[in-house]
Amino acid sequence: MIYLDNAATSHPKSESVYQRIDYILRKIGGNPGSSSHSMALNASRVIFEARESVAKLFNIKDASRIAWTKNATEAINVALKGILKSGNHVVTTSIEHNAVVKPLKRLEREGVRVTKVKPDKDGVVRQEDIEKALTKETRLVSVVHASNVFGAILPVAEIGKLCRKKGILFMMDAAQTAGTMPIDIDSLQVDVFCATGHKSLFGPQGTGFLYIKEGVEPLPLIDGGTGEDDEMKEMPDRLETGTMNTPGIGGLGAGVDFLLKEGVEKIRRYEEGLISQIIDGLRNTKNIKIIGSLNAMDRTCLISFNIEGKDPSDVGHRLDNEFGIMVRCGLHCAPQAHKTAGTHPLGAIRVSPGYFNTPKEIEEFLRAVREIAE
Ligand code: ALA
Repeated sequence: MIYLDNAATSHPKSESVYQRIDYILRKIGGNPGSSSHSMALNASRVIFEARESVAKLFNIKDASRIAWTKNATEAINVALKGILKSGNHVVTTSIEHNAVVKPLKRLEREGVRVTKVKPDKDGVVRQEDIEKALTKETRLVSVVHASNVFGAILPVAEIGKLCRKKGILFMMDAAQTAGTMPIDIDSLQVDVFCATGHKSLFGPQGTGFLYIKEGVEPLPLIDGGTGEDDEMKEMPDRLETGTMNTPGIGGLGAGVDFLLKEGVEKIRRYEEGLISQIIDGLRNTKNIKIIGSLNAMDRTCLISFNIEGKDPSDVGHRLDNEFGIMVRCGLHCAPQAHKTAGTHPLGAIRVSPGYFNTPKEIEEFLRAVREIAE
């Protein structure tokens, strides 16, 4: 079996993640934040340490501004629905994931105005085009760091600078880049940062987080938690209602610690090598159309492509059933991005290697694609 669907969820995880989750379930046990006995305090420590690790990886100065969520979708929903009110304007792109598209659609019905900026042919949205879309009512610019369809990395440093200069909040969806690319929240001037835990941060599914700068205080989507019935808590407790996913968050913390030890720069260099190998191989295969840039440096660790005259879902089935190779085909929860790419409604075949894939596995994948395409 060759797993090449790390943009959907990473597999395998670092060994430390499996060990940490097992240890938490067997030995830690308690409910963080609800009792004062030692097992509960040990569980609180798991949550605290994971939060500190995430803060370190992304250079977030105040870890208490990070709230755990169950995925990036939840983080994005809390932020968009908490920040935007009727009469506000938001600038976003036409290559966003449904996690952004769908809450914005609902907010539009409630009186928020939405402008979607289009990318160039490679999927890059330019800062100048974002600037042209701003109005006096613009409260937020929300962009994906790298599209889960095009793979293109957006010029977020320039967009962050623009937003800070104009006094507009800057939100970044890093579902496809957290853990694969070095990200410094402080120097990028990101005000709202959403990520998932189960992709390149190597955490288990059911984990994610939202960083939000001080002074921007959305309400939780789900009410509850400890304290008096009318008490509004400070961050992060404010957004973390109900019992936390302690084993999941601890596992995510172990994944982040693995990245801190290994170094994201090193991971990025390795993955760029795999992406270059895929691009070269696909370019030398007949009947292939790659979506986006042919330069690995412009991309996060994924490539979408089509084989002329073939339904991408059929190709995905053949890769799985005949060759034991797993990729994701179809619309990738981003129909709007596929419309922008001109690949709607069938979508594309997306291959996304990870840090634990090898050049030999990529060679086998390329051989299989060649056999299907030629
Ligand atoms: N949205 C994730 C993907 O792109 C699941 O596959």
